[in-house]
Amino acid sequence: MLWMSGSTGPTELVQNGRSRVGPDRRFRATAEAAMGCRPGASKLEFMALPSPPVVAGSGACLPESCPGETLVGEVLLAWRRSLLAQGGSSSDLDWLLDLAGGVRWSDLQRLRLDPSISISLERSCQQLEAIWCRHLQTAEPLQYLVGLCPWRDFELRVAPGVLIPRQETERLVDLALASLPAALVAHLQHGGPAGAGKHDEPALLWADLGTGSGCVALALARALPRAQGLAVDCSDLALAQASANLARFALDGMVRLRHGDWWHGLEPWWGQLDLVVANPPYIPTALIAGLEPIVRDHEPRLALDGGADGLAAIGAIAAGACRALAPGGVLLLEHHHDQSPAVLELLGQAGLMAASAHPDLEGTLRFARAYRSRSDG
Ligand SMILES: C[S@@+](CC[C@H](N)C(=O)[O-])C[C@H]1O[C@@H](n2cnc3c(N)ncnc32)[C@H](O)[C@@H]1O
Repeated sequence: MLWMSGSTGPTELVQNGRSRVGPDRRFRATAEAAMGCRPGASKLEFMALPSPPVVAGSGACLPESCPGETLVGEVLLAWRRSLLAQGGSSSDLDWLLDLAGGVRWSDLQRLRLDPSISISLERSCQQLEAIWCRHLQTAEPLQYLVGLCPWRDFELRVAPGVLIPRQETERLVDLALASLPAALVAHLQHGGPAGAGKHDEPALLWADLGTGSGCVALALARALPRAQGLAVDCSDLALAQASANLARFALDGMVRLRHGDWWHGLEPWWGQLDLVVANPPYIPTALIAGLEPIVRDHEPRLALDGGADGLAAIGAIAAGACRALAPGGVLLLEHHHDQSPAVLELLGQAGLMAASAHPDLEGTLRFARAYRSRSDG
């Protein structure tokens, strides 16, 4: 397998009443299959669709509908079938219907059982069909066309130029939280005595290197509201997107965004970082050409290309970790499916301790953790 993600495929997983089935977004070679980015909740705002022009579609089964208008289930199901007849996967189409049309997976199940039920759409069939046809024609990710990507328990804005968050990266957040003492996490969540900093100083300083859309930073800020965060990227587009996402959740005061090259940008905090997470680019350059067009042709190469062996960014991050982490601080990295031994070696060579490998939800070792020694002050 060439993919570097490990997500749920198009199965009947449901969260918050919405299907987790989603657009196929694994970083994989063209012959390989399936991943999902799961829907969450809330209202939709479409990004303006730039050129090339949206194609109207066959229109053969196109019901006349306006946003908010109700459709009889039978009509909607026939229209859905006509869209699928044009190409694409049912999981991707159902993701679009759910996230952009407000038709949840559970609604579709209900309509199949009783097609006489009516259902209202949040967008017109014409709008949804236009997005679908454009996706089929150009292989643009549905997330970019809709402008949203559900991730963990929230929805992020996404746009071309910034990596679409992958489902397996959610695990990086879980691992980061699990790497902290439970009493400290409880304090950072709810307050209270355990692990509190002196004089109201935050009891934990964390950083997200290569923040992209800000997904990991947002998740950490939500999980640890009493900690302070830093998020770095060398892409202005990524920083703008992360800033917008943090602001949407009123978390911009908790996370400082910095433009920089990995640790460079965080110099004022070197030696003080208790927790650092990074999902750096790690695909070997030679594999980029073989990725699915939906990834290769539409997602930023800066977020994908890890150099000749895929380890350029990971090597740079490991090399600077002992200087930047606080004594006892922890570093967590996501990496490609076959890089675990090499990443552990890089972490050890950099002087970090207790390097360990961690699996994704499919059991593939896709994460590494290591610590700066406590006595290394
Ligand atoms: C694989 S993406 C991860 C984005 C986000 N953290 C996520 O998990 O979806 C890697 C990110 O690293 C950024 N990046 C690449 N090279 C960098 C560098 N030298 N310094 C800082 N950020 C860099 C890219 O712009 C991109 O946003």
